[in-house]
Amino acid sequence: MAADRGQWGSRLGFILAATGSAVGLGNIWRFPYITGENGGGVFVVVYLACVALVGLPIMMAELFIGRTAQLSPVGAVRSMSAPRSPWMGLGWLSVVAAFIILSFYSVVAGWSMHYVGLSIVGAFKDKTPDEIGAMFDALYANGGLNVLWHILFMVLTIAIVVSGIRKGIELWSRILMPALFGLLLVLLIYAMTTDGFTKGFEYIFGFHADKFDLTSSTLDALGQSFFSLSLGMGALVTYGSYLRRDEGVVSISIIVCSLDTAVALLAALILFPILFTAGLDPDQSVGLAFISLPIAFSQMPGGAVLAPLFFLLLTFAALTSAISLLEVATAYFIDERRWSRAKATLVTGGGILILGIPSALAGGPGIFGDKLKTGTESIWDGGKNWFDVLEYFSNNWMLPLGGLGIAMFVSWRVGNAAREQGFKTGTKLGAMYWGWVQLLRYVVPIGVLLVLLNAIGVFSAGE
Ligand code: PHE
Repeated sequence: MAADRGQWGSRLGFILAATGSAVGLGNIWRFPYITGENGGGVFVVVYLACVALVGLPIMMAELFIGRTAQLSPVGAVRSMSAPRSPWMGLGWLSVVAAFIILSFYSVVAGWSMHYVGLSIVGAFKDKTPDEIGAMFDALYANGGLNVLWHILFMVLTIAIVVSGIRKGIELWSRILMPALFGLLLVLLIYAMTTDGFTKGFEYIFGFHADKFDLTSSTLDALGQSFFSLSLGMGALVTYGSYLRRDEGVVSISIIVCSLDTAVALLAALILFPILFTAGLDPDQSVGLAFISLPIAFSQMPGGAVLAPLFFLLLTFAALTSAISLLEVATAYFIDERRWSRAKATLVTGGGILILGIPSALAGGPGIFGDKLKTGTESIWDGGKNWFDVLEYFSNNWMLPLGGLGIAMFVSWRVGNAAREQGFKTGTKLGAMYWGWVQLLRYVVPIGVLLVLLNAIGVFSAGE
């Protein structure tokens, strides 16, 4: 029996879906605060270099694998190497990473849905900054509420994925992505009218090295580029497997990388001017979008309208990324176990829903929220809660390892002829082939090894 697969309806539909996967909480919530923490301008330049030299070649490699094999990661790697090849570990890693990442991603997405609600009812109006900060702390600590939003978000994600590639993922990407770009534009125009715009612009693009640390900031930039571009866990192998075999992957990768990077930069160009206008500090880590921004909106004309728009933007971005994460796990069961899409989606979605509950409880006092102490100080940083542990594991280990594996698989294991022909199919940019292979062979492995060494604390020894 043929597996219950599907195919994209059009190239544009695919581009919107892949961009939807890439553009997510990573761009709008994470990129601005990491940029803030690392001092702005120089970090942005390093990030751009990571996207171009590491992210882009890996994205081409993932789409190439998926499109060639027409299978999700486990089967794709098998069909391009040998049955029971150890490279198949890469495919397994994808399925596990999909479960783990979506389980905590959904909790943050839940926060943003909660904030859509809070801002619509005008909860930030006439509140002091401390009171607004306390609202986030209260949400974070409220396990029941977090579980509720997490369930709701997972149900939405499951509802889209269960409807299939064309009628679920592609259809919703065609609706949500233009809406997302529209919201982004409205917020950008607003940010440009604020007094803080020049300062924000200067902060993001100006050269100031004060908070930039060559080792840790560079590695942050690299890790962020993996997460933001949805690389290293088979999401784009899976999406690529629904492409027609004659569809080129080179220009599509360039488009998706450019759009993802543009949205990250625009998100920063929206957030920083608004923060500066309100006289706030850009170095606010996780609370940047959920605390500083509501504070800023509460003080600005039009803030009551713009705040819900911003959190709606964040929710849409999260949803189109979450569906790609769920699709990785779902596609495995469809391709390898011959399950129907309905069964595969419900079982994997249900599993992720359950796995996410401890993350939803992580801000509270229970066993998952206690600072878990596992292993050594250098890896565990003296104690993290369940959510932190999963995020740490996936971002610092799984995605870089997965990306490294994909780069090595394509540049060493896949035969020359198949690789060259695959790259040159359906593209006018075939001349980039040589450069692509060199990046995968040398630049990517060195860059990624640096991230991993940083993760085990090699560069922070003695600090
Ligand atoms: N790229 C998404 C974001 O920026 C997250 C993601 C990671 C999605 C890995 C799929 C796979 O938020």
